[in-house]
Amino acid sequence: MRIDIITVLPELLVSPFSASIMKRAQDKGLVEVCVHDLREFGKGRYRHVDDAPYGGTAGMVLTCEPLDKMISKLTEERTYDDIIYLTPDGITLNQTLANEFSMKGNLMMICGHYKGIDQRIRDMWVTKEISIGDYVLSGGEFGAIILADAIIRLIPGVIGDETSALSDSFQDNLLAPPVYTRPSDYKGHKVPDILLSGNFPKIEDWLHEQAVERTKARRPDLLNNDKH
Ligand code: ADE
Repeated sequence: MRIDIITVLPELLVSPFSASIMKRAQDKGLVEVCVHDLREFGKGRYRHVDDAPYGGTAGMVLTCEPLDKMISKLTEERTYDDIIYLTPDGITLNQTLANEFSMKGNLMMICGHYKGIDQRIRDMWVTKEISIGDYVLSGGEFGAIILADAIIRLIPGVIGDETSALSDSFQDNLLAPPVYTRPSDYKGHKVPDILLSGNFPKIEDWLHEQAVERTKARRPDLLNNDKH
């Protein structure tokens, strides 16, 4: 998979992609992440990429030309499965969307800034609009990082234990059950006996029950369409 990210703040994207799972995935050649500075196509000496909105409302808007030039350059080089714009008025990201994106080959992500990007770029180029939640960030960069992380960890081979991503919260519309590790007794707080029993079919049943209980208590909305 290849992910191209267009931003006015490329420096914000350096460290999240230089550590842990997202770094390992790139080192293993399972994903290529390319960050593009929109100012490369900015106007004039100061490489302007924004302007005041028509209609006299507050804030600044990323202008058409630099974005159009950058997107055109990238789409001439390869075909994209999706051109994603990170925006609070997009579809809210969930595990189903992350699963779908993880099966794609080439994704482009556009980070908005200030008041967002000119609507015409959305109309001309964008195929998916994604929000990471009902709150407004100062730009789409953190959205792109979160979306990329949610996708990359699902690519086969990225997480060592192949089954690990499948047992995450939400993969079954269920939250994950509690997890414990050594020691089995910490200051009198004991690990449930069943987990020490070695009876794996029973352990599986118990974990499923715990996941259902936790989901009922914390996120009953997830159980509404359910098969549990
Ligand atoms: N940009 C600003 N706020 C955002 C959000 N909630 N999700 C995605 N991109 C954004």
